[in-house]
Amino acid sequence: MAKQAAGIAACDFVSSGMDVGLGTGSTVKYTVIELGRRMVEEGLKIRGVPTSIETEKLAKSLKIPLLEWHEVDTLAVTIDGADEFDSAFHLIKGGGGALTREKIVAQVSDAMVIVTDPRKDVGTLGKFPLPVEVIQFGWEVTSRHLADLCPSTVSRRGGDSPFVTDNGNFIIDCQFGATITEPVTMEANIRGIAGVVEVGLFTHMADAVIIGSTAGTEVRMKPNGRLS
Ligand code: A5P
Repeated sequence: MAKQAAGIAACDFVSSGMDVGLGTGSTVKYTVIELGRRMVEEGLKIRGVPTSIETEKLAKSLKIPLLEWHEVDTLAVTIDGADEFDSAFHLIKGGGGALTREKIVAQVSDAMVIVTDPRKDVGTLGKFPLPVEVIQFGWEVTSRHLADLCPSTVSRRGGDSPFVTDNGNFIIDCQFGATITEPVTMEANIRGIAGVVEVGLFTHMADAVIIGSTAGTEVRMKPNGRLS
């Protein structure tokens, strides 16, 4: 299975003694499970920082020791999924709604490894609706400001039964279509709107992308990235 192959392959970036950011989603779940297995069966010693309550529960069930934030200096690597990636290793993340915690964890990491499948490899970002986490206060107005930047629909995830993030906020999904040709600028512009907590554009963060498929896994290293 493609996701499992990618998730397991990413564990080769982890060695004993590392503090590791543990991402969120159906692909990186296999990374966390494999790290737990290697701890029990192969003596791997790591400590983790989870990017969501869901991943925290999984890691705890596998008895992976977790750091409190006051114990975190830097993390050696974060392994996480993505909804899209481009040839410059820029990403859309947040399909699971965990983008803010994911970016905080990635930001304190010395490297970021992404686990994906071939469907997420795109020429231009934006076909996947771009998730933006916003505070509940004034979210209708914040959405209107997002709509000024987005060529098509913006909508609150969950509609009248809104999805609420681990941080107590809403997600606004923005249908850009494959039009985000300047992701660095777009990330900054969206973050400049009051009420926005974080945007699912992750630029200049990923250092390697692992693409799982039924034919095996491909590892793409970012030229001049932190792992090259
Ligand atoms: C979680 O908020 C996301 O950023 C995920 O990492 C992303 O949606 C990829 O998830 P899957 O591996 O489940 O596709």
